[in-house]
Amino acid sequence: MSELPSVCVIGAGSSGIAAAKALHERGIPFDCFEKSDRVGGNWVFGNTNGMSSAYRSLHINTSRERMEYTDFPMPKSYPDFPHHSQIAAYFDNYVDHFGFRDQIQFETGVEHAAREADGTWTIALDTGETRRYDALVVANGHHWDPRWPEPPFPGNFDGTQTHAHHYIDNEPFKGRRVVVVGIGNSAMDIAVESSFVAEQTWLSSRRGAHIIPKYLFGRPLDQIGVNRFTGALPWAFRKQIFTAFLRAGVGRMEDYGLPRPDHDLGDAHPTISADFLNRIAHGEIGYKPNIAELTGDGVRFEDGSTEKVDTIVWCTGYKVTFPFFDPDLISAPDNDLPLFRRIFHPEIDNVFFVGLLQPLGAIMPLSEAQGQWIAAHLRGEYALPAPAALREDVERERAKMFKRYVASKRHTMQVDFDNYLHDIAHERRAGARRVREHGFRLPIEARAVSQMPA
Ligand SMILES: Cc1cc2nc3c(=O)[nH]c(=O)nc-3n(C[C@H](O)[C@H](O)[C@H](O)COP(=O)(O)OP(=O)(O)OC[C@H]3O[C@@H](n4cnc5c(N)ncnc54)[C@H](O)[C@@H]3O)c2cc1C
Ligand SMILES: NC(=O)c1ccc[n+]([C@@H]2O[C@H](COP(=O)([O-])OP(=O)(O)OC[C@H]3O[C@@H](n4cnc5c(N)ncnc54)[C@H](OP(=O)(O)O)[C@@H]3O)[C@@H](O)[C@H]2O)c1
Repeated sequence: MSELPSVCVIGAGSSGIAAAKALHERGIPFDCFEKSDRVGGNWVFGNTNGMSSAYRSLHINTSRERMEYTDFPMPKSYPDFPHHSQIAAYFDNYVDHFGFRDQIQFETGVEHAAREADGTWTIALDTGETRRYDALVVANGHHWDPRWPEPPFPGNFDGTQTHAHHYIDNEPFKGRRVVVVGIGNSAMDIAVESSFVAEQTWLSSRRGAHIIPKYLFGRPLDQIGVNRFTGALPWAFRKQIFTAFLRAGVGRMEDYGLPRPDHDLGDAHPTISADFLNRIAHGEIGYKPNIAELTGDGVRFEDGSTEKVDTIVWCTGYKVTFPFFDPDLISAPDNDLPLFRRIFHPEIDNVFFVGLLQPLGAIMPLSEAQGQWIAAHLRGEYALPAPAALREDVERERAKMFKRYVASKRHTMQVDFDNYLHDIAHERRAGARRVREHGFRLPIEARAVSQMPA
């Protein structure tokens, strides 16, 4: 067999390490560059990379058994929804267990990734060094670049404004009048924490959401009805069952004084909270519609009500950015980067994305499956569909997603956890057949290998 291509992996968060482990196992030469002094990315509270959005109290909201990698269970001593410190430790242990820590270069950021005329990648590091690789795996995360309201709300505000990304704990909210904007998971957690210390907390949103508890019928909700056939069932079918369960177990959002969602369950990224509805029911969080105007010392809302406000917390989501690519080469305006099955770039055959998706479910097992798929591809065991068929697939999947989900910059790369894994397995089998039919060949030649450091 010819020499395998050399690979650069950008990032050693939970996605980068899953990809690195797959490359390591399959004997594909690679270097993984990580800005931080440790692995775990977002899950390292106070990460030295300055990019983590974790707050002091953060717990996962996808359950342990749905989040763990398939071949490395989380300790049974962990609770169903562990604290960020346990999750970060788990990722650390994963790297040591599979023995590829020495292939991660810590405290080394990728500053620029340029594609040369021969297709190889020139990688400029913040150490001043430059290296050349045959292929690039991008795992730089997509929850670190805060998106503030676009366009900004009219008016001026004299108080404090912050974004969920910068939230650490509720200490600054003591005795204050706080408005939390958005109705995603950051807004849930932050409004609940604020409500324990603030003079008053309001949650303001421009639409309703189906707020899902962590447990239903004594089980983590994301484990209910999950078996080996789940991935073959379309969400439209499972949605009926979950909607009935939620109606029976939680009731309607209107029963809590919240707006009726303008979409079906599962047609927006899930908003999960064990506590939010209780705090609403206790009157400790007040609900407000969208902001109409900032009034200097407060806020006027779209229902005409005004409140004096000290602090606004914008829980308005994140931007997908790749500061190391020239924007003409690769960028994601409005968070949109069309990819074949959320991995393969339709025009550039030697760049692969890992973890660049928003699942109904956890990201890690999906990143793991993506890493294994990329490794199989680089070893010539999987061949992509012909370019026209690939582009058709990308368009079909996108059209389906945009039709289903609420129009929003947060819904540009949604997948259903079980269906995605099922479809990957199916596509990998199809790609293996293509390899057998058309003859074995490595899709990416090893051209840059001689230029890798010894
Ligand atoms: C508050 C919060 C809670 C969340 N809770 C959940 C949850 O319960 N379950 C779930 O599945 N998902 C959750 N998520 C989604 C989150 O994106 C994933 O859990 C996970 O962090 C994705 O891992 P990642 O490796 O793709 O990205 P990250 O964790 O962001 O890691 C990216 C890594 O790349 C490195 N990097 C970036 N740029 C460079 C560069 N230029 N050079 C070198 N290194 C670089 C960073 O230093 C970092 O280590 C949550 C997100 C947030 C913000
Ligand atoms: N405990 C946990 O595990 C936990 C905690 C926090 C976050 N997370 C995860 O982190 C990721 C990011 O979550 P997030 O809540 O920070 O962001 P998000 O899911 O993108 O939600 C952003 C929210 O802000 C609203 N919004 C955006 N721009 C707005 C504007 N200009 N005016 C009014 N509202 C606006 C959005 O409304 P529209 O829908 O109308 O656009 C949405 O309600 C998600 O994957 C989430 O699951 C997990």
